[in-house]
Amino acid sequence: MANETRNTNMQLDNGAGLIPPTEEGLREAGRLLREGEVVAFPTETVYGLGADARSSSAVEKVYAAKGRPSDNPLIVHIAELDQLAAIAEPPDDVSARLMAHFWPGPLTVVLPAKSGALSPLVTAGLATVAVRMPDHPLARRLIAAAGCPLAAPSANRSGRPSPTRAEHVAHDLAGRIAGVVNGGPTGVGLESTVVEVNDGCVYVLRPGGISAEQLREVHPRVETVAPETAEHAAAPRSPGMKYAHYAPQGELTLVAGPPKQTAAYIWKAAAEAAAQGKRVGLLTYAEHADVYASFPGLVQVCGSLADPASTARGLYESLRAFDEQAAEQIYAEAYPEHGLGAAIMNRLRKAAAGRVLTIG
Ligand code: TXA
Ligand code: MG
Repeated sequence: MANETRNTNMQLDNGAGLIPPTEEGLREAGRLLREGEVVAFPTETVYGLGADARSSSAVEKVYAAKGRPSDNPLIVHIAELDQLAAIAEPPDDVSARLMAHFWPGPLTVVLPAKSGALSPLVTAGLATVAVRMPDHPLARRLIAAAGCPLAAPSANRSGRPSPTRAEHVAHDLAGRIAGVVNGGPTGVGLESTVVEVNDGCVYVLRPGGISAEQLREVHPRVETVAPETAEHAAAPRSPGMKYAHYAPQGELTLVAGPPKQTAAYIWKAAAEAAAQGKRVGLLTYAEHADVYASFPGLVQVCGSLADPASTARGLYESLRAFDEQAAEQIYAEAYPEHGLGAAIMNRLRKAAAGRVLTIG
């Protein structure tokens, strides 16, 4: 364990700038942000790449470091509710209730932007701004140290899985950013839920850390926006949906169906791929691990079916492992799609880029 920590520090020091999660470290990170630099930091969902949301030259550096198209707007992070009035118009009653209930936490609320308050690069020209108050002490202390709202997308290179550890940030962005506040592994593991309220209805633009079921406990009218709709100009939309998200270097197939038939299909397909000399990967869950004990490839047992939070926490790290091992043909078992499972399946579908099989 001690060795692992040392190696991590070396890797981070080598270009990405490890910033310890201390009072002094946060002061230094706050200073860098005030000077218009970009600094990565942990949140309860994934690591974010922060910049002063009011400064176009700072926000430009975020897009450049990530290699992200600049018409995809960024989430603005605040530490306290009294920072909201400076960046958004007063929220409608439903949005206000959601914020009161879920903040700090993994919920992003799209609100009418206060004109002229933020860099236009943050909102990508939209009249709205996506705001969230993260539930991570380091994130909130950093925002306070910077003294400004922070625009922060996930701190990965565009097209890579979001980072859930400081090492992932270093791997993707070393040399491209001023530093990363090292807060260890994040808790939720998947990004925040993005919602927009329209005529009293909560539209889920991106499923995430807060489930539709949880939202419904606070407000009964909740609708999930299909990616196809979110992508087009009609109704509420989340511009991020139209971009190719993480896709593994190998070809990932998502397989749904009763467990026995699913396993039989995956075994057969994997054996054929392995016989052709392909490197095979498998994403499964604790309850099924025994079935794949002698699987001919890299097996990632990602949490358990009984505990969606455990799968959410490990998903991006498992997906990164397939790339590191250069898996060419990857099979992923589908996850039950309720609660946090909806966000897990949303990310797996994106990784599968349309290769979704239903067996039986
Ligand atoms: O958990 C998270 O949300 C993480 C951490 C770092 O806070 N951040 C994150 O940011 O995932 P990003 O930039 O990777 O995703 C932002 C999402 C995109 O889908 C984007 O299209 C959507 O929020 N979004 C941003 N502003 C929007 C707006 N004004 N209207 C609709 N969607 C918006
Ligand atoms: Mg992202």
